[in-house]
Amino acid sequence: MSISSLPDTDQHRRTFASDNYSGAHPEVMAALAEANVGHAPAYGDDPWTAQLKELVGRLFAPEAEVHPVFNGTGANVIGLQAALPRWGAVICAYSAHIQNDEGAAPEKTGGLKLLALDAPDGKLTPELVEGRAWGWGDPHRAQPLAVSITQSTELGTCYTPDEVRALAECTHRYGMVLHMDGSRLGNAAAHLGASLAEITADAGVDVLSLGGTKNGLMGAEAVVVLRPHAALGMEYLRKTNMQLGSKMRFLSAQLLALYEGDLWHRSAAHANAMAARLRRGLEEIPEVGLDLPTQANVVFAVLPGGQESSARGLPLLRLAWPPWPGASDVLLRHHPGGCGCARRCGVRRRPMTSEAGDGAEPAWLSLLRNAALGGVVLLMIWLVFNVDLPSVDALQQMAADWGLLGILAFIGLYAAVGLTPIPVTVMAAAAGVLYGVALGSIVAVIGVTLGAWGAYWLARLLGSEPC
Ligand SMILES: Cc1ncc(COP(=O)(O)O)c(C=O)c1O
Repeated sequence: MSISSLPDTDQHRRTFASDNYSGAHPEVMAALAEANVGHAPAYGDDPWTAQLKELVGRLFAPEAEVHPVFNGTGANVIGLQAALPRWGAVICAYSAHIQNDEGAAPEKTGGLKLLALDAPDGKLTPELVEGRAWGWGDPHRAQPLAVSITQSTELGTCYTPDEVRALAECTHRYGMVLHMDGSRLGNAAAHLGASLAEITADAGVDVLSLGGTKNGLMGAEAVVVLRPHAALGMEYLRKTNMQLGSKMRFLSAQLLALYEGDLWHRSAAHANAMAARLRRGLEEIPEVGLDLPTQANVVFAVLPGGQESSARGLPLLRLAWPPWPGASDVLLRHHPGGCGCARRCGVRRRPMTSEAGDGAEPAWLSLLRNAALGGVVLLMIWLVFNVDLPSVDALQQMAADWGLLGILAFIGLYAAVGLTPIPVTVMAAAAGVLYGVALGSIVAVIGVTLGAWGAYWLARLLGSEPC
């Protein structure tokens, strides 16, 4: 079947949902075709992967190790898993891809706890990290042992080299590892006018998820361990996590095509320029709000009423992705293929409500319930010492006079005694005296059951959570 006969395929249509919508760059496809010759050793023992290792050493740091993988989620999960022990936790922003968009893979597959925090522009700071970094040595708490930042962030902002350095300094001061999700690393470097090393290894990043797919590859990313021993067991974890490519030459060939020359920079700079151009167009529409800077290839725009098309002659913006619950923002992205798409996106909204105070009982109600409990206990003690019970003869006479009504009243009294500190054995003995062994036993069982049930609800109401 030819591509033109596929349903709903328009080769010229551009959408803004994600930079993943574009095809692969022609230079990448050429590199793949070139790698597709003859036989080559599998699982990374091929010449392309060897060349990639050498390139990564030159681009980032001589001691850097590179491990190609299939996708960004895999890179993040394996990189973090290799950097942390089983009891480790990762501090990140609520807006982080690892927190929002990886189907809980860091938790489920990586076995890691994420400690997310609110970062309004998507960027962590040492102050924010310090607010979340505590509890080491406490066996009740997952141990904060890594900080993960995204460059460029999910909100399209970029960390300057100084900002990364300050974070690395703070992270290392607490003995933690600094991980960077560099899914759009090229866009950040192009925006900052910095080299790849300046915003990663030179600034103190320990483990990097090096992006590729969003910058024109068909499908390849890599874990780059920048500081020796910052991540352990990479050679095993790729397999365990199903990210060890058997025909790895095709992953490495793509990464080589992107990073060997300036393709990564050309593509990222073009994507950034297209995003800036899109923003300029949107700025001319008064109804459109733009309250986040456009630094990389992401434009955040608040479109009035979720409209699907723009005003004033701008091309149609297709909202290709479903809205996030409660979201009102639209993320527009531009990327190397020149395509774009609009995505209803809620990342500027906190996905979680504040932990403090949510669902907690007001202090006044708790005080009132405690006072009531104290009052009931005092009343019962008073009853024990101050209420004179009728004599046995008088009680037997009353039981005979009242018949069935008397039995019901006795059961009620039995149950009421069950709510007090008075021992219910007194009532059991009374039941025997008044009604004999057989009927007295039945009356006692019913009374004690009702009393126990009532005591349970009284205790729950006054002493614990409202039921
Ligand atoms: C910031 C970020 N990190 C990682 C990823 C990797 O995702 P995937 O597993 O789909 O390659 C993405 C993809 O959208 C992303 O935006």
